[in-house]
Formats: sequence, structure tokens, C-alpha cells
Amino acid sequence: MNITIEKLAEMALQARERSYAPYSNFSVGAALLTEDGKVYIGCNIENASFTPTICAERTAFATAVCDGSKNFSAIAVAGGKSDGSDLQNNLLPVTFPCGVCRQVMMEFCNPKKFKVIVVRNKDNFLQYTLEEILPFGFAPKNLQFNTLN
Ligand code: THU
Repeated sequence: MNITIEKLAEMALQARERSYAPYSNFSVGAALLTEDGKVYIGCNIENASFTPTICAERTAFATAVCDGSKNFSAIAVAGGKSDGSDLQNNLLPVTFPCGVCRQVMMEFCNPKKFKVIVVRNKDNFLQYTLEEILPFGFAPKNLQFNTLN
């Protein structure tokens, strides 16, 4: 089955419904697409101790990797106030993945090819490559001495 960007955006919005965000009241959903067409969803999961909080994007990556998937082509991310008020407002900026999540993407994804889709609502989203939102990123290959880039 071929997943469209629209469908992936919708799945991120659905995943957002699963968010556990009683402290920030900011709910995020993610839908991560593998190269072979599987989709793994994630939501942010907060904690009374705050620092154990995990973002929606990393929840999706953790689920995927644990299921044996390591090749990804895109992720859709939908975030905003838990009551949904700002997702309705087309003037507000969309939620971009945080720096930690961008770094996790860098571990598994080709920065020139992997697409990051930031979703405002199912008909309104923007698309970037990982390289665009994380230029000069640090990748596994940078741990090798014999590579120039
Ligand atoms: N959050 C995400 O899930 N993804 C992001 O890319 C940005 C931030 C979550 C973490 C926390 O639960 C809430 O949003 C507010 O920072």
C-alpha cells in the first residue's frame, strides 16, 4: 500500500489523540513511514518527574526499531495545545521536531532524503528534508576517522 503525505499527516493527528501531556497541555503526535510502507505512530508521554518525558517522534522511532524497522522515508508531526485550539488557527506556526528528536532521526535516516512533514491540520502541512532542519548534523559516519564528509 502506498501511503500519501496526506494520509501520514492524518495519522500523526490521530496519534496526537493518544498524547499523555498533563503537565504541558501540549499534545504531539507522529507517524513514521518506513521505506517498505509500514507506519509507526508515536505520541509524547510526560512524567511527574519531567525529565523522563519522551517526545512523539522518539516514541515512534523506539517502537519502529523495536519492531525490527530501521529504514525510514518520512515522519509527520502534529503538535499544539492539547485542547486543539491552535491547530485550528492557520496563522500560528507549526510544531517542528525538537533538537534531540532531530538527532535521533540523524541516526537512522539519510538527511538528504528523509522528509519531515510538519502538520497544522490534515489539509495544511509543510515538508522539509532532515538536512534542511538539521544542517551540519552529526551522523554515525562521523565517528569514523577515514571519512571527509
Ligand atoms: N514535544 C514533542 O513530543 N515533540 C517535539 O518535537 C516538541 C516537544 C513534547 C514534549 C513535551 O511533552 C511537550 O511537547 C512540550 O514540550
